[in-house]
Amino acid sequence: MAADIRHTGAPVLILFGPPGSGKGTQAKLLRQRLKGPHISTGDMLRQHINAGDEIGRRAVQLIKAGKLVPDELVNELVRERVSQADCCAGMILDGYPRTLNQAAVLLKLLEEHGFRPAVIHLVVDYERIVARLSGRRQCPVCGTLYSLTTNPPKAPGICDLDGAHLVTREDDRESVIRERLREYDSQTVPILNFFREAGVPMLEVGAGEASPEQVLQKIWDGLTSAGLIADAAPEVGAAPSGLK
Ligand code: AP5
Ligand code: MG
Repeated sequence: MAADIRHTGAPVLILFGPPGSGKGTQAKLLRQRLKGPHISTGDMLRQHINAGDEIGRRAVQLIKAGKLVPDELVNELVRERVSQADCCAGMILDGYPRTLNQAAVLLKLLEEHGFRPAVIHLVVDYERIVARLSGRRQCPVCGTLYSLTTNPPKAPGICDLDGAHLVTREDDRESVIRERLREYDSQTVPILNFFREAGVPMLEVGAGEASPEQVLQKIWDGLTSAGLIADAAPEVGAAPSGLK
């Protein structure tokens, strides 16, 4: 359902970083503490691919090859999603924007609606990323992420939460991972300067050696000291905290 979301002043956290830096992992953890949905353009595109619709058909070969899908397609998906009522209280963006065009479109959209964006830049060494993504598994039902090395499921290949068989993403082959990293370097990294020049608050977080919970704590501390989060962290699973 579309809603009037103008001038809410709500925060929008933009999780930024290379493939495998932990954007999805951190978005899911932050979602337990904050109001608003987790919006992943990668997840949205994979849903369209699974549905076999027109958007999925346009995206599938590009994703398999590690290339970005066209700006206008992704921008439209996000514009439509952001107009939904559940975004009024803010949102967590994961994997969007990824080009200068997307960044400009997003900032304009957020400005029109009076949202307050902040970028969380997850920094991880590329060789660690290749190792991480080769061992990633995901539950196709509930979306829980596992790592064969650092966070394996209790029973091999089975989701701890719902017993579904875990899947490996088609783009998690080493040659495709390296192509995704090249796309990130050439098309996505330049956005950081664009955000800086636009005065968007930016938090740089080392996300390589730390565990997901430690990375979450660094993000939370950074957001709190930057004045972007009003309250101390609640217990995980508690009601959403107050946001400025
Ligand atoms: P997308 O789905 O966004 O993939 P990505 O950016 O390549 O990132 P990943 O999902 O691979 O990694 P992540 O950072 O979420 O890490 P995760 O938390 O899973 O995009 C896929 C494709 O869709 C793109 O290539 C493109 O084709 C297309 N696309 C999407 N958005 C687009 C856009 N805006 N424009 C154009 N095209 C677009 O963690 C990775 C692994 O590491 C997991 O196993 C996890 O358990 C583990 N892990 C996480 N944190 C830690 C930690 N701290 N320590 C140890 N292990 C960890
Ligand atoms: Mg992801």
